[in-house]
Amino acid sequence: MKQLLLTKEEEKIFDGEMGEAPKIAIRLLYSLGELGEADRLIPIKSAHISGVSYKNVGEGGIRFLNKISHKVSVPTSLNPLGFDIENGGPVDIDENFHKKQMEIVEIYKKMGVMDSFTCTPYYYYNEPSFGDHISWAESSAIIYVNSLIGARTNRESGPSALASAIIGKTPDHGLHKDEGRKASVVVNVSDRLDYTRFAALGLFLGAKLNKKIPVIRGQKSAEGIELKALSAALSATSSIPMFHVEGVTKEYRLICESPEVIEVGKGDIDETIGKNSSQQEPELIAIGCPHLAPEELDYIAKLVKGKRKVGPDLFLFTSREVKAKSGDAVRTIENFGGKVFSDTCMVVSPLSNNYSSTGTNSGKATFYLPLKGYGNQKVAFMGIMDLLKWVIA
Ligand code: F3S
Repeated sequence: MKQLLLTKEEEKIFDGEMGEAPKIAIRLLYSLGELGEADRLIPIKSAHISGVSYKNVGEGGIRFLNKISHKVSVPTSLNPLGFDIENGGPVDIDENFHKKQMEIVEIYKKMGVMDSFTCTPYYYYNEPSFGDHISWAESSAIIYVNSLIGARTNRESGPSALASAIIGKTPDHGLHKDEGRKASVVVNVSDRLDYTRFAALGLFLGAKLNKKIPVIRGQKSAEGIELKALSAALSATSSIPMFHVEGVTKEYRLICESPEVIEVGKGDIDETIGKNSSQQEPELIAIGCPHLAPEELDYIAKLVKGKRKVGPDLFLFTSREVKAKSGDAVRTIENFGGKVFSDTCMVVSPLSNNYSSTGTNSGKATFYLPLKGYGNQKVAFMGIMDLLKWVIA
């Protein structure tokens, strides 16, 4: 096992000369570095922290945050929390939940993190560049930025990303090196996939590959939005940190010698969708896991413009910044009778306070929402056009 060597300055932090919080942070990074056989810490350009919703972190999380509270030293964005701070919703919450959630927000604010509350900080807030070393939690965003942007982060947890944000460094191992980014499985996909079918591919591959990095062939016209759906579904069902798509992602030529080969046919995708979908009309249609991009809001606005709404509630989720920049689309959707929320999402808000069944096009939400403690929902997993059939008269 390699020994992780600290610089003189890092040693001082390690010994507590800079205070308790940096000491906890660097010791956490040191332990993770030793486990990953890193020989040094390297500077990072940004951090993104998950574990913001009171629903997920609870009292233990608040205690940890109070203990480690310290100014961050790099641009740091935050994941969604339990409700929309500015507009309220998406569901009823009690006074205690509100109070505890805002306590968490205040601790983070004192640390100097951005008012972002989104799992797609790479739209506007915190956009990394190719080759940047970063320390990000939120598994769907990790897969997206590694794969589509070519930034470099391991699959960090909320605490390790926060420790990196404070120290401004991360252990140099895994995805920070070319070797750790090589595909070991070639996945031949016969049919051109759309958004929902990419999400289904993620559910299918995640369960099969565990943590092996795949290179996907046969999808040369895949778009960023569709690969965002794949990132999220893979993140829910596996420990895969990134994927490559031949002819699309920047590092798709990084492949191990003699990779395993898997064929994925139309039947595999159909079966995955069928297995995950109740066909009963849900009480809620929820779209935006991961948070929607401007072009997705525009697309939905075009589909509902001038139409009359019936049936289940329609909730869309995005970031504050995307919502602010998509004023026309948001107005069209809200005139139709849908609601557009920011700061929160269908999984980290306490959805079961108001709903017991949800329709979504997200593979990740399809995985989490039925789980007890996450959503307790009956889920209908299908494409946007099919979901909207329930709400357009
Ligand atoms: Fe984002 Fe919430 Fe889904 S954090 S990826 S919208 S579960």
